[in-house]
Order: sequence, then C-alpha cells, then structure tokens
Amino acid sequence: MYRTHNNGELRLSHAGKKVKLSGWVQTIRDKGFLIWIDLRDRYGITQLVLEEEKSAPELLEKVRRLGREFVISVTGIVIEREAKNPNIPTGEIEILVENIEILNPSKLPPFTIEDGTDGGEELRMKYRYLDIRRNLVKDKLIFRSQVAQKVREILSQQDFVEVETPVLIKSTPEGARDFVVPSRMNPGQFYALPQSPQTFKQLLMVGGLERYFQIVKCFRDEDLRADRQPEFTQIDCEMAFVEQEDILNIFEDLLKKLLQDIKGVEIGDFPRITYAEAMKKYGNDKPDIRFGMEFTELNALAQGKGFQVFDSQELIVGIAAPSCAGYTRKEIDQLIDWVKKPQIGALGLVWVKYNIDGSMKSSVDKFYSPEDLKAWADAMGAQPGDLLLVMAGPANKTRKQLSELRMEMAKRLNLRNPEEFAPLWVVDFPLLEWDEETQRYYAMHHPFTAPKPEDLNLLEENPKEVRANAYDLVLNGNEIGGGSIRIYNKEIQSKMFEILGFTEEEAKAQFGFLMNAFEFGAPPHGGIAFGFDRLVAILDGAETIRDYIAFPKNNAGRDVMIDAPAKIAEEQLEELNLRIEEK
Ligand code: AMO
Repeated sequence: MYRTHNNGELRLSHAGKKVKLSGWVQTIRDKGFLIWIDLRDRYGITQLVLEEEKSAPELLEKVRRLGREFVISVTGIVIEREAKNPNIPTGEIEILVENIEILNPSKLPPFTIEDGTDGGEELRMKYRYLDIRRNLVKDKLIFRSQVAQKVREILSQQDFVEVETPVLIKSTPEGARDFVVPSRMNPGQFYALPQSPQTFKQLLMVGGLERYFQIVKCFRDEDLRADRQPEFTQIDCEMAFVEQEDILNIFEDLLKKLLQDIKGVEIGDFPRITYAEAMKKYGNDKPDIRFGMEFTELNALAQGKGFQVFDSQELIVGIAAPSCAGYTRKEIDQLIDWVKKPQIGALGLVWVKYNIDGSMKSSVDKFYSPEDLKAWADAMGAQPGDLLLVMAGPANKTRKQLSELRMEMAKRLNLRNPEEFAPLWVVDFPLLEWDEETQRYYAMHHPFTAPKPEDLNLLEENPKEVRANAYDLVLNGNEIGGGSIRIYNKEIQSKMFEILGFTEEEAKAQFGFLMNAFEFGAPPHGGIAFGFDRLVAILDGAETIRDYIAFPKNNAGRDVMIDAPAKIAEEQLEELNLRIEEK
C-alpha cells in the first residue's frame, strides 16, 4: 500500500493519526536541527518534518539524499503545525516523519515545478510531462475532463447515441488541407485523416440513428493561431427530422446547462443576428458582444462637406469609444499608428472628441462645424466624454479594420472580462463565397449545407445572394460552434456540386458514397459541431487552446517533446512505396 491519504486531505482533525503518504518532493528546507519537505501529489501539498535529534541516523542519511522531484513514500504522525499556512488546505498540520522510502530518484528538473515556474514555453513543452505536474496545467486538464463528462451526461440524457467514426478515411470537405496517410496494402493510395466526421454523421442519419454525438479528434493542415491546432477536438452532433430552429434550441440548451453546471452562471435566451447584420454592426461574423461600440455608418452625414478623403470612399463608419475624449495627442497618435500598421492596413483614422462639457474637437475641424460633429455623435449614440473613431474606405475592408480597432479599444479599456459570458447565434450565412484568385465559388460552410428554401430560386442566376440554413455559435468573440441543415434532395445536391465546379464524375469520385446513400431514403437532417478545446478554454476564462490540450503542437505544427514530425526509415518508405528515387 502506498498511501492511506492523499496530500490534499489531512486536517487538524486528523492530529495524532498515523498515516502513509506518497508523492513527489517539491522542496526541501534543511535547517540542520529541523528538516522540512513539501510532498506533492495531484491533490495537493503536505508538509513533512523531521527533527535531527529525534530521528534515526539512517533516516537522516536517506532524507539528505533526497532531491527535488524524487518519488517517495512516507509514514508518520499528523501533528499540529506551529507556524500555520492559511494559503493551503493542509496548512494547519504537518507529518512528523517516522520512515521514508525512496520509490524513485529524479534528475534535477529543467525548470521549477511551481505555479510561478522559471521555465520558458519551449522548455516546458519539451518536458510537458513535468509541466503537467504543475497546478496551473494539471487543473486545466482536469477542468477539460469535467466539461467532457458533463457534455456526455447532458447529451446522453437527451437520447443522443455516441458513435465512433473512422479515422482513416477519404478527404472531407471542410476547406482546409488534409493530413494523409499512405496505404501499404494499396500502393500509391492514401487515406486522409478526417477534418471532421461530417460525411459519416450524415450517413448515420441515413442509418436511422436520429441523434448522434461524438467527442472526436479532427485534423486540419492549416496555419496555426492561438485558437487553432492541427489536431483538435469537436463535440460533433447530428439529428434527423429537425429544422434549424430545433438545432438552435437544443444546442443553446446544451451551452446554457454547461454554463450553469460548470460556471454557476445563468444566461437567458441567446441573441440571434444575421451574418449581414453582424458584418454591418461589428465588421465581424463572430462579434464580441460583452461590450457595445457598435458601428455607425456616417456616409449621409459626413459626405458632401468638402472633405475629399471621405467624399471619394464607399463607406464611412465609426465607433464611439466610451470615456476616451480625454486621450492626449500622444495617445491618439499611438492609435493612428496602430491602425496604420501592416497587420491592420488602414490609411488613417479620423477622431472627434465629444468633450464632457459638450464641446467638439476633431482632426477634421476644417471641414466640419461643431454642429456637424454633434450630429455624428448623436447618430452614434455617443455620450459626452466619448471619443469617436471614424474610418473610410472600401466597405468590406474598412469594416474589418474597424472591427480590429473595436477589439483593440475593448482590450485597452478592459472590456473583455473573462468571467462574463456573452453567447450569440449568427444565422443566415451566405451559401457560397466567390474566390477571386481561382475564379470560382466555394461553399462557405461545406457542400452539403442546405440553401434557404426561399432563396432557392436565386441559385441559378445569382448564387452569391443565396443564404444558407447555416449558423455559428459565438461566445465572447470566438466561434465555438458551427453547423447547418443539410441537403437531402439529390437534385439540389447535384446543382450544388455543379455550382462548386465539380463535374458529375468528380462529384461521384469524391462523394459518390454519400450520394448513393441519399437514394435510400435520407431523412431531413442537420447538425452542429463545437470546437471543444475552444469551448473549454473560454469557459475557463482563457483563449489559448494549447493550454487545455495535454500534448499540444507548437506554432510550427511540431510536437517538440516527441520531436514529430520526423523522417522515417528507408525501409519504411520503401514498404509504403514512397521512396523518392535519387536522380
Ligand atoms: P467547422 O469547420 O465550423 O464545422 O468546425 C466546428 C468548430 O470546430 C472548431 N475548430 C477548431 N478548433 C481548434 N482548432 C482548429 N484548427 C479548428 N477548426 C475548427 C471551431 C468550429 O466552430 N462538420 C462541420 C460541422 C457541421 O456542419 O455540423 C464542421 O466541422 O470552434
């Protein structure tokens, strides 16, 4: 037996008890006559104490051989501490050591295993297993497990069946690049790893399961960011005999329950806005609505007053930054530099101070009277003390730039409170996206997404105006889920492939299995997938998903711990028919 208790468990009420504990040596303080050791396991830290005078020489000798991260087992008596530590749950007691067994020595760890570690990111990733011993990392993995557990509980209660779909498949149409796996038994042929189980979950609906879910790994070979990993996890769901409204309601309930059970936060019905509205009001299809600063278009008020820069532009649009009228010249110049940096790429920024006393001061006083500027402020719903920030240019580009500025101002003003949760649905996404470079349409969601029935007549002449029965769930400015109602009618599916530039043969070669299945009585169906890593991170008040993945990849897509990807042996290449002949 290694332990009678764990290291987070003992209290003053255990005083006098003989116990056995196991764990890792966190710190040793050797004062000569007294030696203290902090013993750590997953559950906490317990202080051990030895008095030099009262301890056997063999025991002292053993203790003085200990180093950080040694694995030991200890027996001793729980005693009340003289100097109590109110910061930890076991801070009132310590263990008067009777015996220590060294279970395994340890090399000196490359960084300290403490909350405020001295290890840099790269080093901690290389020794991720040591990093996981730290509370900050361990707690995130435990939190992730709790959320997964809750999701399973909620969905299972609602009759969803958890089904595992295959990992060695054929390309899925989610729009990123595939990771591929060569087949030894089929020379020259490759499996693709799923970008999502999309086609399989639709086949499960043809299979009559009606309600499916899976917490599932997905693989996408795309550029990485804080909220993207090449392998990530989805809560993937699909239902038969449903319309968009059913899906929105069921999965809104799922998120409400998670927020309630895990965070103790009660949220009312989620707002819904259309994609078009989101772009107009926030310049973004995943708006953060924890704060206002919505866009106001100023063309009607700001054009035709002799200010050339504005007169020649498609869109003039602004936000009112709350209580920023007091910004100094230097602070404003900083903002102007910020919008001009290449990542944002704006040509400039017009500012208007709506002073507390009601007076106006702006960078365009030459062209606009105080009354003109007051009209802008009124249109924006600005209050005295606000700073109006206005940009002009081509509509889409300018909206995007102002969206960046809105987020930057929110950051500067501390309006992105991680303890606040503001979900919303974005609905009515366009079905198709035109790509200038390749001169063709792409499915904005994926090619199985159903057009809105009322827009079907536009599919022929004006495809880019067609809206889809597609929706995203957005939480605190992050897309945490997306889905759609699917096409289950063969003619519409063929039309869709045609618009997407597939010949009949190509469509057959890639998705023939699905189209065949749809000829055997496919029910109306639809679904959604949540980015599980993102959901977990945001619920925990964070945005970097890497911290919530036990063994993540770095920004170059590498696992620096196991050093992957890596070369493989010549024989293996040969076996897989992948050997590239030297010229
Ligand atoms: P979609 O491509 O929108 O939809 O993906 C669903 C959700 O998965 C998350 N996500 C990611 N998370 C981390 N790293 C990534 N690289 C990454 N890519 C996506 C996002 C996103 O909202 N099959 C459809 C769903 C459906 O139609 O039912 C799909 O995969 O949070």
